[in-house]
Amino acid sequence: MAFEEYRQTNIITSDGECSLMISKKKKIALINNINKNAPAIKAEEHNRKKNYIIDVSEHADFLSALGICDKQGRIYDKKQPKYRQINRFVELLLDIYPSLPKQGQLTVCDLCCGKSYLTFAIYYFLTKLKGRQIQMFGVDLKADVVEYCTNVARDLGCEGLSFICADISAFKSERAPDLVVSLHACDTATDVVLSYAIKNRAKVVMSTPCCHHEMNRTMKCSSLSFIERHSILKQKLCDAATDALRALRLESEGYEVEVMELIDPEETPKNVMIRAVKSERIRPGKTQAALEEYNRACNLLGVSPTLDKLLRDGQPS
Ligand SMILES: C[S@@+](CC[C@H](N)C(=O)[O-])C[C@H]1O[C@@H](n2cnc3c(N)ncnc32)[C@H](O)[C@@H]1O
Repeated sequence: MAFEEYRQTNIITSDGECSLMISKKKKIALINNINKNAPAIKAEEHNRKKNYIIDVSEHADFLSALGICDKQGRIYDKKQPKYRQINRFVELLLDIYPSLPKQGQLTVCDLCCGKSYLTFAIYYFLTKLKGRQIQMFGVDLKADVVEYCTNVARDLGCEGLSFICADISAFKSERAPDLVVSLHACDTATDVVLSYAIKNRAKVVMSTPCCHHEMNRTMKCSSLSFIERHSILKQKLCDAATDALRALRLESEGYEVEVMELIDPEETPKNVMIRAVKSERIRPGKTQAALEEYNRACNLLGVSPTLDKLLRDGQPS
């Protein structure tokens, strides 16, 4: 239809309608029922706002104390990835929250806590959002960050939250931990975290490993030489095999294990979450089969991982 053939145009707005009509004799009539005095309506926001568990409008105090947002609750651009990371970690904790003891005080350890963004996020999640009484420890080697976190916890009145300057291999909590978490513990420090959790029968373990160097140094497997000759592929292989062995070793100790992505891999390549929940009823056949599979895989790769050595020494840590 040619443009001249249009006889009527209707414009429908939130403030009324307007019609433009042309008669056969080319007479134009405009009927305008749009209310010019109607208050302006704000355009709909089409970018869906993500609902975070650690919501800045509710938790601005600790987020601003740690330098994630300003006093008005605006997340600093360079802290957006950290904000998303701790929220995702807490989301994954929320999923398995029913596996934690339902009553009484919870004991929680964040090992290799660093500046403790995650420690505070979990503390707020458990105390403020879940109304639990907790005793929580953040442990790190760095005296300055431990002092800083201790001051922040005191200023915010975080009862039951303490920070300890120590090597995690020397750390012991008075009560056995219910939940052990760790975000980006370097190389074999992740193995120390997992062995601590296993030896102390932690109900839930959540660990996102950091760099993986041990297997890259020690692997001896002629069948995989076609991968080993490309250093980038060898590293990827060792990253995956290290975490798969960790998962299997946890299974051999009676944990149900899931390995998943923590966050968008574009944000950080150190992105694997190992989440393990101690089984209510341990089936010896299943744990034995996992241990045998673990030993076969270690033999194939020619490795003797730190986690296994720590568990074989048998001492509660
Ligand atoms: C990459 S940072 C991660 C910090 C924090 N979890 C985060 O995600 O922001 C690793 C931390 O582990 C600590 N660390 C490494 N080995 C440790 C050990 N054996 N005992 C205690 N802390 C350790 C370091 O001091 C550092 O603060």
